[in-house]
Amino acid sequence: MNSDGQKIAVLGLGPMGRALASAFAGGGHAVTVWNRTPGRMPAALELVAAAALSSASESASEPAPAPAISIAESVQSAVHAAEVVVACLIDNEVVRQVVDGVDFGGRPLVNLTSGDPGQARDMAAWAASRGIGYLPGAILTSTPMIGTPAGTVLLSGDAAIHAAVAPALSALGGRIVYLGPDPARASAFDVALLDLFATATNGLLHAFGLATAEGIAPTEFAAFATGIGSLLPDMATRFAEQLEAGDFPGTRSTIASAASGIRHVTAAARAHGLDTGMLDTVRRAIDRAVAQGYGADGLGRLATAFRLEVEPGRISE
Ligand SMILES: NC(=O)c1ccc[n+]([C@@H]2O[C@H](COP(=O)([O-])OP(=O)(O)OC[C@H]3O[C@@H](n4cnc5c(N)ncnc54)[C@H](OP(=O)(O)O)[C@@H]3O)[C@@H](O)[C@H]2O)c1
Repeated sequence: MNSDGQKIAVLGLGPMGRALASAFAGGGHAVTVWNRTPGRMPAALELVAAAALSSASESASEPAPAPAISIAESVQSAVHAAEVVVACLIDNEVVRQVVDGVDFGGRPLVNLTSGDPGQARDMAAWAASRGIGYLPGAILTSTPMIGTPAGTVLLSGDAAIHAAVAPALSALGGRIVYLGPDPARASAFDVALLDLFATATNGLLHAFGLATAEGIAPTEFAAFATGIGSLLPDMATRFAEQLEAGDFPGTRSTIASAASGIRHVTAAARAHGLDTGMLDTVRRAIDRAVAQGYGADGLGRLATAFRLEVEPGRISE
């Protein structure tokens, strides 16, 4: 353990729990792990120790000491062994079940389990009702990036708890970002970014399906598809500026033009028997914007067109 090392308990040894435990151990912290299925712990521990040793060796000028990692037989004993408790389990309901009835004795619980903003608020209220100092977070990067400069974790909630756990959490990566006191803020960023990931990834996969149905080889198609991907960073910045200004110039392309284009794509996909649900969603948003008189605006305006108007007895499109 280095001079700043702390005692950290990691609850959950799935792929991400193992990556967190490795990063903490590699960062010089003493780690105690607990997992529901005890049989998985020894094998997981070997992986964790090997990864921790390799990351500690990479960053040290002298031979790195063996990582300090141990197994706890129960959640309670893991918590007792630690100064900071980190949970990374399959969902928030499981976190609640696992720590319910456990005496934290003033130790903070950092919950890095994914969930939605409503759950984040409920969990924060639940932890407060049990006197547990609580900080939720959202992990934005995959397991190999944890503990590296690219490792990104968003945190939000109680500022004093954040200040207390921030030094330990810095072992998780180069971008550990605190977003303020609202416990749902980290999760809000997470779900919006996952929305982007899910729709962009499945948009790409749907396009491979259409290209293949049209007899285009995937590699032939990819040569052009990569060009579309490279437009996204600039669009993200430009649309953000337009949304904040409330001004959507249609100088590059217009929503009216997109209304025509989406129909060609949908017709081609439907002709091949592909599910056009994603395209239909886009077409409905475009049509709503046109119906509201925004046909001459640029595409950034469409960010405001996905909300369904709820009327008594029906959801309109
Ligand atoms: N993997 C990634 O790349 C990644 C990236 C970002 C965020 N995350 C988030 O990190 C969290 C953990 O993900 P993961 O990849 O490690 O795998 P996971 O499959 O989501 O979670 C596995 C862990 O949950 C435990 N678990 C499942 N059901 C349980 C129950 N009823 N009671 C107690 N423990 C239970 C498992 O224990 P057993 O071993 O006993 O089944 C294991 O420790 C998730 O919220 C995930 O969304 C993961």
